[in-house]
Amino acid sequence: MPGTRTSDVKSFTTLWLTLLSAGLVIAGAAWAVASGGPQTQLALTPPMGWNDWYQYECKVDEKAVKANAAALVSSGMKAAGYRYVSIDDCWQGQRDANGFIHSNSRFPDMKGLGDYIHGLGLQFGIYSSPGPKTCAGYEGSYTHEQQDAETYARWGVDFLKYDWCSASQVYSPDQMQAAYRKMYEAILKTGRPMVYSLCQYGLEAVWRWGASVGGNVWRTTDDIGGDGYARVSMFGFQQNGLEKFAGPGHWNDPDILQIGLGQLNFDEEKTQMTLWCILAAPLLAGNDLTHMGQQTLSLLTSAEVIAVDQDPKGVQGQRVWQEGPFEVWVKPLAGGSKAVALFNRSLSALTITARFGDIGVHDRAEVRDLWARKDLGVFNDGFTAKVPPHGAAMVRVKEIR
Ligand code: GAL
Repeated sequence: MPGTRTSDVKSFTTLWLTLLSAGLVIAGAAWAVASGGPQTQLALTPPMGWNDWYQYECKVDEKAVKANAAALVSSGMKAAGYRYVSIDDCWQGQRDANGFIHSNSRFPDMKGLGDYIHGLGLQFGIYSSPGPKTCAGYEGSYTHEQQDAETYARWGVDFLKYDWCSASQVYSPDQMQAAYRKMYEAILKTGRPMVYSLCQYGLEAVWRWGASVGGNVWRTTDDIGGDGYARVSMFGFQQNGLEKFAGPGHWNDPDILQIGLGQLNFDEEKTQMTLWCILAAPLLAGNDLTHMGQQTLSLLTSAEVIAVDQDPKGVQGQRVWQEGPFEVWVKPLAGGSKAVALFNRSLSALTITARFGDIGVHDRAEVRDLWARKDLGVFNDGFTAKVPPHGAAMVRVKEIR
């Protein structure tokens, strides 16, 4: 380069090297977020567990969490696949002089609680907010993200639900992604894998970017509780169309199961379980596991229904046919067969037909009732079932070639 001094060349080279390495760092960070870094092996199938919120709200304490964790094992729910025992809001106490969060008097020993949960072969979930306060007014993680992530790692946390709440007072909507990414990066820095559960009620079409900020699951809806079948069905059925955003490691989350909470009748509970499994939604029980009727337990642990949710192909099902309040949904499964759900959203029992043409099956197929765990035989052209009001049927259809 004529007229260029050696020192200029050096600084030019240094500049390029600096830019190159900065580029590599940025690309590396982007890769870590995109690929999940140490988080990549998490939630390859939708997370299953228990969350205290609907049963206890802010009355939750260590004793209740331990009792429910133990019941998760003794009831057979652990054997059915449920793993995460999650404390929701209201566990937080004050920050110390160095800014580290402490639990309140209802949770005297978080590390001990984590050890207890791990000792049962289960995993430990916790809750916070990117805002200064949680939705119930407890201490949030705002400006303390790294410290909180480190504290959770020290306690042995395996799952973090991060709830927007008061973050709306300190961030604008266009800063939401950065706020969620910030906690993701803080988790990465701890080196402890934690399933990262975004909760911001589906704002800003979270399904489009949840995975890019490290989310393993993201709530697509507002809170599901409090209005029985109306809200459960509205939120569940409106997941249609979001299937392209879900897959292994990143799932749409229409919120906690209402089964056993006294909000739904038997057929409505069966509808929620059927729909959540067709949707490949997280299965988070919300009821008191220490006092659970046989019917509740059988709905929560039906093995072949759960297998649809947990199918390794990881495809979220979708609606393929609708006639007013009658719907047919399909979820392709690993191995080529299809889970098919027939829903009756009306108030009278009615027959519904899943036509094979609508579900991508030709001519003849073997049909198995997944709730009854019974082969129903070989069917031509379609499968018809009488479905109770607000009820559901679920079958597996295997084409005969
Ligand atoms: C809501 C959230 C609920 C629950 C509650 C706790 O915002 O959607 O799932 O976590 O806060 O205060």
